[in-house]
Amino acid sequence: MYTQGLDQRSDTAPTGDDAERLAAFRQRIDAEEKIEPKDWMPVEYRRTLIRQISQHAHSEIVGMLPEGNWITRAPTLKRKAILIAKVQDEAGHGLYLYGAAETLGVSRDELVEQLLNGRAKYSSIFNYPTLTWADIGAIGWLVDGAAIMNQLPLCRCSYGPYARAMVRICKEESFHQRQGFEIMLTLCRGSPEQKRMAQGALDRWWWPALMMFGPNDTDSKHTAQSMAWKIKRFTNDELRQKFVDVTVPQADFLGIKVPDPDLRWNAESGHYVFGSIDWNEFHEVLKGNGPCNRERLQARRSAHENGAWVREAAAAYAEKHPARRAAA
Ligand code: 3HC
Repeated sequence: MYTQGLDQRSDTAPTGDDAERLAAFRQRIDAEEKIEPKDWMPVEYRRTLIRQISQHAHSEIVGMLPEGNWITRAPTLKRKAILIAKVQDEAGHGLYLYGAAETLGVSRDELVEQLLNGRAKYSSIFNYPTLTWADIGAIGWLVDGAAIMNQLPLCRCSYGPYARAMVRICKEESFHQRQGFEIMLTLCRGSPEQKRMAQGALDRWWWPALMMFGPNDTDSKHTAQSMAWKIKRFTNDELRQKFVDVTVPQADFLGIKVPDPDLRWNAESGHYVFGSIDWNEFHEVLKGNGPCNRERLQARRSAHENGAWVREAAAAYAEKHPARRAAA
């Protein structure tokens, strides 16, 4: 664990130099300065960043699985090529984010081990199955759409490496969202059966996409502190509301119906009012009882085992050619 300039533990009242450093840290955050890896930071700031960035990285890597399932079954060569590019992007996002987490003094191996032994979280959304090709459209449109909503503000996160990683990731996410919406538009303008497929995918993915933004603000244990440290720029509920306000008109344009009987436009507030989320389902998925949790972890464990030889070969090469490794 990186300990240079030992961070002050803020679970004990700071005294003397620590109090000064904490005050100086807060001033930097308030002044919108970026905190860099070698800067002093409260231990909880470092800890919550490792927590969030590692979960984000795991989400990108596990998120490859539902879509990867359709690469061999894409309806045309063009769709296959687009889907391969998207899934490859997600892998890159994961590596970017593991790299950002490593600047906080944690090793990638440690984080991957936490994922493989089931101790690490990743986004609940990736524990749902992709039953038809329309699900691939709904994932791009809704899941990547929600990801953009949640990730754009992270480009202004107070921690430099995370904010910078998000700039490129968000550019690629917008391609992901557009290709998903275009799949849905093609289906909605296709045969009645294709339109029914699109409606079925919206029915399956709408509520899990709203859950991506996290628990209600009243139940979120990290939001208040993450907002104070400008890791988060908006709360979970604010981002969820933004997503609903943007996405419902898109569903209207597609001619398919959001599966929420309580959904209605409130002209006074200028927002959609929507029904209550099934938080029991959310917590069951987080506990590992979602439709695909076991399958997803098993797939990650097999990939890790099957890839051991690549890691060993790279390590042996680096051992043999230290100079080249240093130059790399
Ligand atoms: N799935 C799994 N766990 C979730 C969750 C979700 N959808 N929402 C919240 N949680 C967990 C939190 O991790 C936290 O658990 P922990 O204390 O064990 O870490 C707990 O529930 C309480 O939630 P909070 O709202 O208090 O936690 P955060 O302040 O961390 O907010 C978050 C949750 C909004 C997901 C935030 O972590 C975040 O913005 N993360 C970065 C973005 C991200 O990870 N997005 C996930 C999808 S990535 C993606 O979609 C890739 C795209 O290419 C498809």
